[in-house]
Amino acid sequence: MIKLPFLPSNPVSRLRVAGLGLGLKVLPFPVPVSFVGVDSSLTLCREIAATGIKKLTLVTDGPLVKLGVVAPLIETLRAAGLKVDVFDKIEPDPGYEMIEDGVARLRSFGAEAVLAVGGGSSIDGAKSMVACYANDCSPSDLIGLFKVRKSGIPFYAVPTTAGTGSEVTIAAVVTDKAAGQKHAVIDFKLVPKMVALDPALMVGLPPHITAATGMDALTHAVEAYISTIANAETDRMALAATASIVRYLPTAFKDGKNMEARERMALASFNAGLAFTRSGVGYVHAIAHQLGGLYHVPHGLANAILLPYVLDFSLEDCAHRLAELARCAGLEKGSMDDHALAEKFIAHIRLMNKRMGIPTTIEKLRREDFDTIVSRALAEAHGTYAIPRYMTREDAFALLDSLLPH
Ligand SMILES: NC(=O)c1ccc[n+]([C@@H]2O[C@H](COP(=O)([O-])OP(=O)(O)OC[C@H]3O[C@@H](n4cnc5c(N)ncnc54)[C@H](O)[C@@H]3O)[C@@H](O)[C@H]2O)c1
Ligand SMILES: [Fe+2]
Repeated sequence: MIKLPFLPSNPVSRLRVAGLGLGLKVLPFPVPVSFVGVDSSLTLCREIAATGIKKLTLVTDGPLVKLGVVAPLIETLRAAGLKVDVFDKIEPDPGYEMIEDGVARLRSFGAEAVLAVGGGSSIDGAKSMVACYANDCSPSDLIGLFKVRKSGIPFYAVPTTAGTGSEVTIAAVVTDKAAGQKHAVIDFKLVPKMVALDPALMVGLPPHITAATGMDALTHAVEAYISTIANAETDRMALAATASIVRYLPTAFKDGKNMEARERMALASFNAGLAFTRSGVGYVHAIAHQLGGLYHVPHGLANAILLPYVLDFSLEDCAHRLAELARCAGLEKGSMDDHALAEKFIAHIRLMNKRMGIPTTIEKLRREDFDTIVSRALAEAHGTYAIPRYMTREDAFALLDSLLPH
């Protein structure tokens, strides 16, 4: 088949994405006030109390309560005179029913503010709860772009994983558990007012979750950097995040108590979040969302496994961008051309995965689901994500083939 060099392979999708990109460039993205460092989460609690709020709902998950991660925050809030209701029913990949239970709790308690403490699931669950509470609607009503009419009660977040960047993004991922499908709610009103990046809360994060969530952050940085609507600002954030993750994730994985590595990872995740919330993600996320929805593969793990395969596919149309990422990560030795350096970057991602025990295939993947996965992933990506090289259905089938367990 003749390939026309001057015509993009998927012109309608590209036009729509370019339009979205222009819009996103001129719209003012809210950025939360952020406190950084050991015990910054306690500073945030005191700042929340200083706003005059009297009743706060803390949204988290059961394991974090059991680990004692949230106790110092609750004590600090109560010592400052706040009434605190703890909703600890967050499940991985928050579903509609759980979010509705949370909204009922906000209503019965009469919450005046919400503080999410946890990973992306707790922060996204809380974002949806606040939006549904304000707009008196169901989580599914808000799926899509800019459907949140009214701003909710003040919302604050403390991430306890360094991965999703949800503390700074305009997105909340919600899962339709019955259909096995994840959806995104996207709105400026979801961004928290204030956040704390507190490495002390991350020291107990087990190595396998450190690895998967850290690779989620790397995926955000890489997909934001190779996005066709990336700009100088998103580039700066994506490069900074990539350099930190390549350098500090291996240390955070090996020595979870290393406070410097934990703090650098928290900042990298925040920066990667700032980058991708402006220039978008790509096929890694589009496919990972289907693996999460259908098989409950943790988000970061799915991304980590997919990232090198999708980059192999994308390489020919973004070698110079991947080469820049390799340079900023310190991978260039001597003089190398862009293509060779881009390949080295992808090889380094595979090496990072291997050293952290991340597999190269998806254990639960089944060929009979390929059609559903490919249809949903391409529907999510095309026309929404600013992808450097478009996939056909056949390309996507071939990629999934290489992910089947041997
Ligand atoms: N809103 C966004 O912009 C965005 C971006 C990427 C991903 N996501 C979504 O975020 C979710 C995934 O979030 P995640 O990867 O942070 O995982 P998660 O929130 O599901 O948490 C994973 C596990 O780690 C545990 N954990 C969290 N912090 C811990 C700590 N400090 N110590 C010990 N255990 C801890 C939790 O209890 C849980 O069992 C997915 O639903 C994904 O789709 C959202
Ligand atoms: Fe992600």
